[in-house]
Amino acid sequence: MDPLVPPRVSRMIPYAPGKPLEELERELGIRDAVKLASNENPVGPSPKVVEALGRALASVSFYPDGAAFALRSALAAHHGVDLDEICLGNGSNELIDLLCRTFPGPDDHAVFGRPSFVCYWLGCTAAGVPFTEAPLREDLAWDVDALLASVEPRTKLLFLANPNNPTGAYVARQELHRLLRELPPRVVCVVDEAYVEFADADDYASALELRDLRERLIVLRTFSKAYGLAGLRVGYAIGPRALIDGLQRMRAPFNVGSLGQLAARVALEDPEHVRAYVELNRRERARVTAGLRELGLSVAPSQANFVLVDVGRPGQELYQALLRKGVIVRPMPPPIDRHLRISIGTAAMNDRMLAAMAEVL
Ligand SMILES: Cc1ncc(COP(=O)(O)O)c(C=O)c1O
Repeated sequence: MDPLVPPRVSRMIPYAPGKPLEELERELGIRDAVKLASNENPVGPSPKVVEALGRALASVSFYPDGAAFALRSALAAHHGVDLDEICLGNGSNELIDLLCRTFPGPDDHAVFGRPSFVCYWLGCTAAGVPFTEAPLREDLAWDVDALLASVEPRTKLLFLANPNNPTGAYVARQELHRLLRELPPRVVCVVDEAYVEFADADDYASALELRDLRERLIVLRTFSKAYGLAGLRVGYAIGPRALIDGLQRMRAPFNVGSLGQLAARVALEDPEHVRAYVELNRRERARVTAGLRELGLSVAPSQANFVLVDVGRPGQELYQALLRKGVIVRPMPPPIDRHLRISIGTAAMNDRMLAAMAEVL
């Protein structure tokens, strides 16, 4: 590496996305591979979104609205918050990065779970922010005590994915309550709710309902999952004005494109499309969980659009064997390298995955 590249950068490990469908089809010479590796919406966006995008294509010679007034207004109305309590991101990924660059510095410290979403690690490492990874429980459930115990006097940022990726586990309302109250006031608590729409446990609560409990609370949401707009990169943060103002100063101009802004706004107007997908996911998640358990595998209870499966052997082996059957899932790094993360697809996709799994086992 060029000596000009600082250690903070050379330490980075490029994000490894799920294997692209086209790549596997090319390698195997097949046309019907199934990708259940990136927790994407398998039914696609609302037809109203597709139609609106078609009409808007001719306008892409213009810059987008840098303030994204229409989308932020729609989101403000949707959530009952003020416009200046919302910052948009190029996917919530960009907001994670911005949070790591905006609030803590190299003399501060961040906390997040292990295993949890890999981008917290990437964001802190890129920004040169020291961090502690709080262990989950043995059964991969969240451990709020471990998160609180990882907080140091210099801690400025804490990420909680609720539901968590890659486990699908959630922090129940009372425990979330406790975390928000017991975390020292100086810490910016970020609750990443990328999978919130899929959570249906009676005691699940969005942190948006608990904003009264602490000042420094930021909730992340995305249009990539339930709304099916992953390719357009639209996420947002909701938080107190003073913190959102900090993110607005740090973000790049025009960070969300005009098509993304439009698609997200139209998607909000079609809640029925989201509801139908969430219902499909609920049914199929139960069926996939039961099907994998029938094959003798251990499946963690999930509140998201994927399941984490303990395959009892190196996950890479099974991952490769499934690839040869045309099914792409996600192998996991240590400490859960005996697990595979499998996204919930349509009934046909899940049948294909379950049949392939039965064969390779
Ligand atoms: C917990 C969590 N947060 C954030 C994201 C990022 O989503 P996006 O950048 O597409 O909004 C993901 C994506 O997989 C995720 O799992």
